[in-house]
Parts: sequence; structure tokens; C-alpha cells
Amino acid sequence: MSDNTMKLTSAEGHSVELNLRKGTVGPEVVDISSLYREMGVFTYDPGFVSTASCQSAITYIDGGKGELWYRGYPIEQLAERASYLEVAYLLLYGDLPHAPQLAEFQRIIRYHTMINETLKNFFNGFHYDAHPMAVMVGVVGSLSAFYHDSLDIHDPRHREISAHRMIAKMPTIAAASYKHNVGEPFIYPRNDLDYCANFLNMMFATPCEEYTQDPVAVKAVNLLFILHADHEQNASTSTVRLAGSSQANPFACIASGIASLWGPAHGGANEAVLDMLQEIGDVSNIDKYIARAKDKQDPFRLMGFGHRVYKNHDPRATIIRKICHEVLNNMADNDSPLFELALRLEEMALQDEYFIERKLYPNVDFYSGIIYRALGIPNSMFTVMFAIARTVGWVAHWMEMMDDPQQRIGRPRQVYTGADRRDYIPLEHR
Ligand code: ACO
Repeated sequence: MSDNTMKLTSAEGHSVELNLRKGTVGPEVVDISSLYREMGVFTYDPGFVSTASCQSAITYIDGGKGELWYRGYPIEQLAERASYLEVAYLLLYGDLPHAPQLAEFQRIIRYHTMINETLKNFFNGFHYDAHPMAVMVGVVGSLSAFYHDSLDIHDPRHREISAHRMIAKMPTIAAASYKHNVGEPFIYPRNDLDYCANFLNMMFATPCEEYTQDPVAVKAVNLLFILHADHEQNASTSTVRLAGSSQANPFACIASGIASLWGPAHGGANEAVLDMLQEIGDVSNIDKYIARAKDKQDPFRLMGFGHRVYKNHDPRATIIRKICHEVLNNMADNDSPLFELALRLEEMALQDEYFIERKLYPNVDFYSGIIYRALGIPNSMFTVMFAIARTVGWVAHWMEMMDDPQQRIGRPRQVYTGADRRDYIPLEHR
């Protein structure tokens, strides 16, 4: 057996040689794609704990070291120095843009920010108190009914136009879902503002009053968007890939990603963290909630804690924690008591044997909601903010998949545990 294969022998003595694949970095991967053909068995891995579903060159995570790279660049460097659209370009095209490439990308995104006027009718179909994520799933899914000119998924140029449209229109749709919720008229995008400032303007300007941009708010949104831009094969990205593997159109795929993101175990955690902190209310109650989180009979979990991959620290949480002070100090109506509560909760949980043993650390969403709240963004919009930022990651993975010659329809196997074969019994004999 050569160095890059692994031999697997069944109890009956049948053997198969499986290839070991090596990525640029990270653990070796056993290629089991021939297993069923060779040995007639499937593998079982609920939750994909040990299973790579694809090859990807976009994002790398070392959960043990707490490292995250986009196209090889450490997240700390991008968070400190890049703009969100620069990172979006990097994720989509593989390299950081030169100045003219970035200017052209910014121009393209800027000129795709408007949504079709008739799309507004979709918002009116929702009751005013619809959750903005419900509106996002519906309206983004409906985009495929508008852009017939770019829906040939086998044409790379069509794919690119669809990608640009989604990145550009997502903030416009997100802000409109908020305006619908608060009963205010939609604000059109403005071409003189950059991506993040434009979003804040669409959220907070009204026809009666201009919104004064706060550079600290713009910087905070830019940073949070960068931190949320991609995270390799997480639940929502895997959902986008699975939907895309059937050759569904990209708007439908991204809508399915938004739906998957919404759950509190994934992107919905940022909203759940704020709800939890407000419910805890005071430092004196922390003990009680930590005890609840440890109680296996109680479904309560410490929201914003734990991660499938990070078992040391989530580098994004470390970055956000640092800028929390800056943002909160800058905001007149700040929520530092909530931040103080979060810091104390983190401190107490990190000293607790239960959390130490299970390697449970604060994740990106433990602090993101505190910042969004300080910027005046309501809890129900937190996951929408995540969806805006993650759109580029979803789209980059969808584009990569569509270009992959090994791409096939995603079709997991199962262990069937239902009834054995049995015959139909006529109704009168049951
Ligand atoms: N509070 C209390 N206990 C927890 C928590 C938590 N937040 N997270 C995990 N645990 C416990 C589990 O009960 C389990 O304990 P056990 O071994 O005694 O049964 C152990 O830690 C391992 O947890 P799993 O659920 O098996 O880990 P998994 O990798 O499947 O789940 C997840 C990861 C979903 C993130 C989980 O930690 C969780 O629910 N966290 C809270 C929700 C959250 O913050 N989600 C955001 C994730 S980041 C993102 O998507 C952007």
C-alpha cells in the first residue's frame, strides 16, 4: 500500500484501498467515494462531523488553533485593513483586487442596488409584524421571477451577473423588510454612498429627515460584514450547495441558504443572544442561567456559546469583543450594561468545568448583537444583517461548485430503520 492510501478490511475479510487526499493545509481526508461500489457499505456520520462534502479553495478554518483565513488571508488582517467589498471581491475571484479592479467592482455593485419597482408589491403581501427573515426568504426567492436574462446557470457570465445582483440587492431588500416592519416608506439606494453607509441610510433615513452618517457605525458594520462574509461548509452554505447541486437557479439557492441561516443554532443565534441577555437582566441572575444551560433536562442553551469547529476560541468573537468598547463609547444611547452583563457571563462560563470540559467558547454571535443594538438595529434584524454579509460567501461557493468538474447532485445515503417489507391490508381487514 502506498503512503497516500488507506486499507479498510471488513469482518468477512474483504479489503479496499482508499485514497487519502491532502489539502493545502489541514488533516488528510479519506476518499470513500468507491466504498459502496467496492464493498457494498455506506458510511454513517450524522451532522457531517467527520465528512468533507466537497473540495473548496475559498475559506480555511483551523478549529484547534482558532484560525480563519479567506483565500489564505488571516481574518485579523482583513478585519483591520480591508473594506467589505474588497473582501467580497477576494472571496468571489480568489485574489485581492488591484485599485482599478476594486473601483470597477464597486461601480458594478452600486449600479445593481435598485430593486424592480414591482418587487415592492411582495412586501405588501406580508403583515406588518412579519419577521424580516421571513420576508427575506420570500423576496429573495422571488428574484428569479425577475431576472430571466441571467438565469442560464451553464453560462459563466450569467452566473457572475446573478452574483453581482444578489450582493448588490441584498441590503436594499433587507432595509425594505425593516421599513415594512416599522411602517415607513422604503428609501432608495444612493450611489454616492459606499456599501455599508448606503445600507445604514436605507435603514434610517426617512423622506422627512436625512440620516447623518456616523463613521464609527459605518466602520462597525464594515467589520461585522467582513467577519460574517464566509465560513466554509456551515449549515447555510451547505444548504446553498445542496440546492445548487440540482441545478436550481441561484436566487432559489440563496433563498434556501437564508432559510437555513435563520435557525437559532446557526445565524439566528445573534438574535437569541440578545433575547437571552435581556431575559437574564442582571449579573445576579447569571448563576441561575448557567445552571439551566448545564441541566440536560432543560432545553435552554447558552446562546452564542459553542461551535462545531472552534474548540479553542472563535477568532471572530475576539475581534468583535475588542471593538465593542469603541462602538459603545461612541453611541449616546449605548447599551453598556448589556455589554457588562455579557462580559461577566462569558467570564463565569469560561471558569465553569462544564464549559471547559466541552471546549465551549463564545462564538461570533455572542457580541455581534450588542454592537448592532448600539447602532439602533432591532433584534429581529440581526440575522438579516448576517444574511447580507454571508450572501457573498454563499454566492462564491455556488460559483465554485458550478465550475467544479466533479460536481454531481448531492444525494446522501441513509440507514433505514423503518418497517421491513410487508403487504398491503385492505381497509376492512385492518
Ligand atoms: N450551552 C450549553 N451546552 C452546550 C452548548 C451551549 N451553548 N453548546 C454545546 N453544548 C453542550 C452540548 O449539550 C453537548 O453536551 P454533551 O456532550 O454533554 O451532550 C456538548 O456541549 C457538545 O455540543 P453539541 O450540540 O453536540 O455540538 P454541535 O457541534 O453539534 O453544536 C452548536 C454546535 C450548534 C453551535 C452548539 O454549540 C449550540 O447550540 N450553541 C448555541 C447556539 C449558537 O450560539 N449558535 C451559533 C453558532 S455560530 C454560527 O452559526 C454563526
